[in-house]
Amino acid sequence: MDKTIIAHDPDEMEEIGIEIASDLEDGDLVSIVGPLGSGKTTLTKGIAKGLLITDVVVSPTYLLAREYRGRLSLHHIDAYRISTLAEFAEVGLDLYLPPEEGVTVVEWPERIDGLIEISDFLIRIDLLEGGPRRVDITKKGLRR
Ligand SMILES: Nc1ncnc2c1ncn2[C@@H]1O[C@H](COP(=O)(O)OP(=O)(O)OP(=O)(O)O)[C@@H](O)[C@H]1O
Ligand SMILES: [Mg+2]
Repeated sequence: MDKTIIAHDPDEMEEIGIEIASDLEDGDLVSIVGPLGSGKTTLTKGIAKGLLITDVVVSPTYLLAREYRGRLSLHHIDAYRISTLAEFAEVGLDLYLPPEEGVTVVEWPERIDGLIEISDFLIRIDLLEGGPRRVDITKKGLRR
């Protein structure tokens, strides 16, 4: 399902997330790469909606991780302030990378060595001139 979609506003960004969610399976790891403020959390909100999660999804930046229950549970991790898998192990979050159950979505995955390589989906967001975002979705399917 490799594809590129242009999102002109946050609603379109969420729609992309909803579409991605329909393709997610138990145990999937999703990496979202993109510059500061590009829409990683917004896309994750769409993924949560697609997984029939009714809780409000907020940025996990200061808590490192948040968990929600839906069709599959969603583990939402922000690696902005963490740089190694060992640091995640120290706080007990390494079992979500990849997840033993449910789906993990990681913002700033490039901060953790080897994480993008083991991801099932790689999503890359780029800022376009004037505000819209280009979203590149790559399904890697390494572990299926
Ligand atoms: N496609 C889009 N077009 C225009 N604005 C958008 C789009 N997607 C998201 N935004 C807006 O950009 C801002 C930042 O979004 P968001 O918090 O999702 O980014 P982020 O990549 O998670 O940021 P951070 O790097 O701080 O984690 C929000 O105001 C959001 O509504
Ligand atoms: Mg964010």
